[in-house]
Amino acid sequence: MNKNPNESKSVLAQVMLPSHANPSGNVHGGEIMKMMDACGSVAATRHAKKNVVTVRVDELVFYTPISVGHLVTCTSKPIFVGRSSIEVKVEVKVEDFMIGEEKVALKAIFTYVALDDHGKPSAIPGLVLTDESEKKDYELGLARYRDRKKNQ
Ligand SMILES: CC(C)(COP(=O)(O)OP(=O)(O)OC[C@H]1O[C@@H](n2cnc3c(N)ncnc32)[C@H](O)[C@@H]1OP(=O)(O)O)[C@@H](O)C(=O)NCCC(=O)NCCS
Repeated sequence: MNKNPNESKSVLAQVMLPSHANPSGNVHGGEIMKMMDACGSVAATRHAKKNVVTVRVDELVFYTPISVGHLVTCTSKPIFVGRSSIEVKVEVKVEDFMIGEEKVALKAIFTYVALDDHGKPSAIPGLVLTDESEKKDYELGLARYRDRKKNQ
């Protein structure tokens, strides 16, 4: 059954520790990308109700540095589905909770493919879009999907 993106919206939050950072306390970009992938895969799995694998990352942008002691919150939401593939928008906010300031730190679009029990791509439900922002995200996802199909 088709679903609204908000039914699969997922949130993952973690305080950054020295093990996430270099000796100067700057968090490694790869640590945040790993968290984004984990958060995105929860949204994709919630939508598909099947095992999913990551196949692509688009439009990954780092906006602001993240340091040890900051609270990092990833939010993910499906924006487009093909037959077995699903694009998930992932946004990361960083909060220095000693002073209560929160900023957008990263954004990206992760693509996952749902697999059946034999590891083959498997059809997933469509999206029910209810507002203009969801429709705009879907149209942009469809354009990227069509471009990729042309080049496959
Ligand atoms: C996912 C996988 C099983 C798909 O196999 P495949 O032979 O490419 O299958 P298909 O060509 O039928 O494509 C299946 C879907 O994946 C999409 N797809 C495959 N590769 C893609 C890519 N790089 N980017 C975006 N979409 C991709 C196709 O567009 C198709 O989408 P649709 O069903 O919505 O139309 C295979 O590519 C794979 O195992 N990749 C590695 C995934 C992985 O291990 N990730 C973790 C790495 S640590």
